[in-house]
This record gives sequence, structure tokens and C-alpha cells, in this order.
Amino acid sequence: MLIRRQEKYQLKEHQLTSEVNYQRRRLLQGLALSTAAASTGASAFLGLGDKTPPLAKRQALQAKATGEGDYLALTPEVKILNYNNFYEFGTDKGDPRRYAQDLVTNPWQVKIQGEVHQSKTLNYEDLFRQFPLEERFYRLRCVEAWAMNIPWIGFPLAALLKSVRPTMNAKYVGFQTLYDPKQMRGQASWRIGGGINYPYQEGLTIAEAMHPLTLIAVGLYGKTLAPQNGAPLRLVVPWKYGFKSIKSIVSIDLLEKQPETTWNQLAKDEYGFYANVNPHVDHPRWSQSTERFIGEGNLFSAKRQATLMFNGYAQQVADLYQGLDLRKNY
Ligand code: MTE
Repeated sequence: MLIRRQEKYQLKEHQLTSEVNYQRRRLLQGLALSTAAASTGASAFLGLGDKTPPLAKRQALQAKATGEGDYLALTPEVKILNYNNFYEFGTDKGDPRRYAQDLVTNPWQVKIQGEVHQSKTLNYEDLFRQFPLEERFYRLRCVEAWAMNIPWIGFPLAALLKSVRPTMNAKYVGFQTLYDPKQMRGQASWRIGGGINYPYQEGLTIAEAMHPLTLIAVGLYGKTLAPQNGAPLRLVVPWKYGFKSIKSIVSIDLLEKQPETTWNQLAKDEYGFYANVNPHVDHPRWSQSTERFIGEGNLFSAKRQATLMFNGYAQQVADLYQGLDLRKNY
């Protein structure tokens, strides 16, 4: 069942203008994320509606509500589906859309194990049934200095972690993407896969993993995730660079020691374990102070905007890093 909670850390409705085609109000009305709909496959609709006021009217209302005459735009769905990083399918932004469509995402199994009292395996259906789903509008900031605003559907990672009852030794959480070179051409070829040593892996501290902002996403724009976006489940950590948000997860390990992470292994000086969005700490090869926002219009008309500390979520997450030198722990 789909439950929509408005938490203070979400982008608020008055801060957003929805994609014209996205009638998210139906989501509230229909609440059609029936398990039946969810289990019909990767293109299933989680629920849609037709109550959204015309774009111009919404913009006027939003401007009034924020008092700034400005609003945050959702990135159109077509961009979210066609401009991707998923090196398992190739390094070109169009490769994931082109080559991931046949990825088998149902059946799927995710193991949650390690420093827990009760390890468990989730099946495809469990992803949609075991935890109440919420819609969250989050900013996504890639380390490559482009950004999107995405309406995710998912559940807090904390809900899943609590259900396996971590032991006192659980200090970190490690994640792994599916390893299947037959299905993932980038895993079969060093050149196509960008020189990564697969499987792709990521990690968080336990405090980061338990933070209410940290989401396991199973859908976006009211539909189950497309393969190129990391179906059937991916991590979303909105205050960190996008590479932390690992796709198509098959294992979640609670650990005593900090796990190795893919990009850190590949280039230690460029990609840290924390990878918090930070406009004051540049990538060695480019500035992180601004970003190209991918919204309406073509890619070249994308506007540049200032990058925000912790990607705009400082109020919610800065406490996690008190006393930590963010220049050293980039
Ligand atoms: N997960 C896996 N397994 N492989 C990847 O190459 N790329 C990361 C992240 N998760 C990646 C991944 C990067 S760099 C970004 S910016 C986001 O996915 C992009 O997510 P999107 O394509 O859905 O926008």
C-alpha cells in the first residue's frame, strides 16, 4: 500500500512544478500501488491521476507560496530515463537505456546479512509489500556536476535494517550490485565497463544508513523503476554524490569495518568514502561550486545553478559530521 507522508526534508509541493505529464495527484487518489500492479513487471504503474492544475497556474501558486517568485522544477521523466550512469551497461549516457532493457529484474533476490540477529532474503514481491511505500521528491547531484529533481517511490532503508535487528558490531553497511556479465555487457568487457572492477559496491556508516532521508527506491514518477535507473531496487542518498546511490542491489551487508567502495578503489584522490555534496571542496579536475540542472528543454539549455552544501539537506544531516574534517573526509 502506498502511504504518502510529508516530511520536512522533502521538497515541498509549493517548491515544485511537476512535469506536465505527471499527474501525481492520482497517486494520492488511486493509491493504486496494489501488490497486483507492482508485481506485473517493470513497466507497471504504481498509480496515476488527473487532478494537476495547468502548469501556468501551478507556477503562479508556487511563486506565491514561496514568496520568491521562484520554484523548483521536476526533471522530466524522459530525461531521467535517457540520461544515466550505469557503467555495467556502458559509459555513454545513452547506453543504460539502450542496453539494460532485457535485464531480468523479476524474479530478484536481495540478501540482508552480516552483523544482524536475523538475516533475511527479500524476493521481488517483498520489495512492494513488506514496507509502506512513500513518495519523496529529492534532488540528485552527480559528482560530474549535473543535477536533477526526481519524484522517487520507496521506503526508508532504516525500516529494512531494523527488521533484521543489527548487532552492536554493525558500524557500516555495504551494498552490492548484481554481477552477471551475460546480462551486463560492461561487466564482460573492461573497455565497455569503464575499467571498473565489478561488482559495483558502495557503503555507508550505520548512522547514514539509518537516517530517515536514506531511501530504498523501487519506483519513480509513479511507476516501478526502469532497468536503467536501477530496477528493481536502488539506494538513494540525496545529500551525497550520485555514485553512492547504487543500483540493482543484490546484497546488503552489515559490517564492523568500513567496506571498500568502487569509485574510491578506482581513484582514491577523486572519490572519497563519504562523498557528501560539498560546493567548497572541488574535484581535483573540476569545480563543484555549481551544477547543470537538467530540466525542461534540450540538454544544452540546461541552466547552471549553485550547488548547495549537503545538496540542500544540511539542516537534516550536518549533525552526522560534527567534528569531521570534510576536506580530508571528502
Ligand atoms: N550503480 C551502479 N551499479 N553502477 C553505476 O555505474 N552510477 C552511479 C549511481 N549508481 C552507477 C550506480 C552514478 S555515478 C550516478 S550519478 C547515479 O547512479 C545515476 O542514477 P540515474 O542514472 O538513475 O540518474
